[in-house]
Amino acid sequence: MGDYRIGLTSNGIEHYRRDREEIDRAIQGVLDHGSFVMGPDVPAFEAEFAAYCEAEYAVAVTSGTSALLIALLAAGVEPGDEVIGVANADLAISLAAVHRNARLKWVDIEEDTFNVDPVKLGEALTPETRAVVIAHMYGLPADMDRIKDVMADYPEAVLIEDASLATGARYRGRRVGAIGDIGCFSLASTKVLGVLGSGGALTTDDPEYYRRINWVRHYGRTQTPYNYDDPLPPSSAPAGMVIPGLNERMDSLQAAVGRVKLRKLDADLRRRREIAALYDEILADAPCRLPVLPAGYTHCYRVYTITVDPGIRDAFAEEMRELGIDAGAHYVPPDHLHPYFRERGGHPGMLPVTEGMADALVCLPSHAYLTPEEANHVAVSARDILLRLAPGRI
Ligand SMILES: Cc1ncc(COP(=O)(O)O)c(C=O)c1O
Repeated sequence: MGDYRIGLTSNGIEHYRRDREEIDRAIQGVLDHGSFVMGPDVPAFEAEFAAYCEAEYAVAVTSGTSALLIALLAAGVEPGDEVIGVANADLAISLAAVHRNARLKWVDIEEDTFNVDPVKLGEALTPETRAVVIAHMYGLPADMDRIKDVMADYPEAVLIEDASLATGARYRGRRVGAIGDIGCFSLASTKVLGVLGSGGALTTDDPEYYRRINWVRHYGRTQTPYNYDDPLPPSSAPAGMVIPGLNERMDSLQAAVGRVKLRKLDADLRRRREIAALYDEILADAPCRLPVLPAGYTHCYRVYTITVDPGIRDAFAEEMRELGIDAGAHYVPPDHLHPYFRERGGHPGMLPVTEGMADALVCLPSHAYLTPEEANHVAVSARDILLRLAPGRI
């Protein structure tokens, strides 16, 4: 959070101060029980998280990044398989594909939603596509019906949602993460639902994926990872390591904290939406484009992302920071323009919309811990600076 008075994202200490008594009790419960690895809070968190997401199953892991890699392993992505992803979602999708030695193909996004462009996805799909990984950017669901439509001719391709920024958002009545084959979530403390530190989760309705996800997060072993109340459906798989797995189990302590935080999530999302409505109102006449909210969607506003004239973007963000407001650009540069990918063929012009948005976007704080005065200060300051720097220009 640096020296900013108003941080871009919430962080663990704000959560902890607000819910201190409940979190202390939850942590003390784990300490008293002594079951630090896969103790009872882990399956309890998983059951509660699955119920919240309206999915059959959930599996708690160590981070969103590990959730994505586990999803590719569970989906059966093998070296050389084609994986399609987006390049504006903070590297984790691309990294999962790289670690599987998959052939990674990025698809461009839509200008207004920052989410994958279903038309371009349709053009990119081939019979060799083994997985499509899409993100719900900044908390707004991607257009899952159109994505599923274009994927209908490619039944071999597994649809994986990266819902890291959108826990709790709904798309046409359904929670994100439970619409594709596998949902992946970051539960890092800066996310809309965050533990105290690092955490992640996967959701699925499919018992086979569920079993494989469990195996992969526990060394690839078929024996249950749980110390308590094994919720896995029975399997005829032989006992032992059947798939090269990882050690990515969520700590019992984090699961206990996650259970407390999950109970607060809906109230936090309501507060984020109130703040976004205030920003919509105050910024209505400012020279910028505001976040869209298509009918039938709900948004989590992990951050409130606007686009401005690229010529003033950096000056605008700098002036906001001088006022103690942490305005930032998530996630810049896009994946394909990081040095690693540039050395492997990534270049400007590859994803024109993703690149254009990366030059124009600015994220404003919209987390649940902003006081009404702080929220007002963010929006009024942004409006004043934009009107001065770029009158009439978007
Ligand atoms: C869209 C998206 N996916 C995945 C991740 C990775 O999550 P984690 O930091 O928990 O590994 C992030 C992190 O910010 C993210 O923004």
